Amino acid sequence: KNSLLRIADLSKEELLGILADADAFAHEQKDWQLPTRKLIANLFFEPSTRTHYSFESAEMQLGCRVSDFNAAYSSVQKGESLYDSVKTFEAIGYDAVVIRHTMDEYFKELTNVDIPILNGGDGCGNHPTQCLLDLLTIQQEFLSFEGLKVVIVGDIAHSRVANSNKEALDMLGAVAKFSGPDFWVDQNENFMPLDEAVEWADVVMLLRIQHERHEKHLQMSKESYLEKYGLTKEREARMQKHAIIMHPAPVNRGVEIDDDLVECDRSRIFKQMSNGVLVRKAVIKRAFGYSFDDK
Ligand code: CP
Repeated sequence: KNSLLRIADLSKEELLGILADADAFAHEQKDWQLPTRKLIANLFFEPSTRTHYSFESAEMQLGCRVSDFNAAYSSVQKGESLYDSVKTFEAIGYDAVVIRHTMDEYFKELTNVDIPILNGGDGCGNHPTQCLLDLLTIQQEFLSFEGLKVVIVGDIAHSRVANSNKEALDMLGAVAKFSGPDFWVDQNENFMPLDEAVEWADVVMLLRIQHERHEKHLQMSKESYLEKYGLTKEREARMQKHAIIMHPAPVNRGVEIDDDLVECDRSRIFKQMSNGVLVRKAVIKRAFGYSFDDK
């Protein structure tokens, strides 16, 4: 089965193959559908807008039938485990499941599941389809990753995107640095101060402050955070002419990034969301082992 759990599980060839398929879904394979109708369940145990509904959009565009699992009205409320829930979907005829869960690496409990599992995010662990859609957005812009300079900025400690993006970018020949406050970012390893990084980078990738994963509230106003650690208009004005801004969203407007920059010319934030559908179509196609030649 072709699950997608972690970016680290993919070879460089597999990763580039998924990006190529995603790009084909934007162009010559726009209307391609799975030759047989698959039944997919989306199990979101944590809130989501982009991942949840772009998976659903991708599934529907591929001709799948889709069920939305509602944990609050399921037997999870009677104490059923994640493993038994997923085995139930397998037993009653589902062909694959998409899962987002609060637990880091929840999938380690699911090794006896025989249908593909597509990870929609595990705790502070992994978010492989987010990484793939970020890579697709960068590839569309710059065509190659070789030597590309990327700075990932903000709440690195709680992000499930930062480390997998860095690993993938390293594998593809890009140079990735981290930036942000010392309470979330190790200032000694691959670190670059933000004021230097905005002038250096081809890609400024901002991360959301993950309030829901913090034990204590941020002891600083939104305005102070933006001024000290965020992308202000003054910092944006010092970016290279060709450089782009990315953010996985949802965005805390006026905190990680000045509100006016969210939809500025160099922002690719909404483009990333559109690319999410393409990448998820490619990941579902891979899960079922099809090629575009299959009719
Ligand atoms: N970027 C992202 O994962 O957004 P959602 O939490 O809305 O899915």
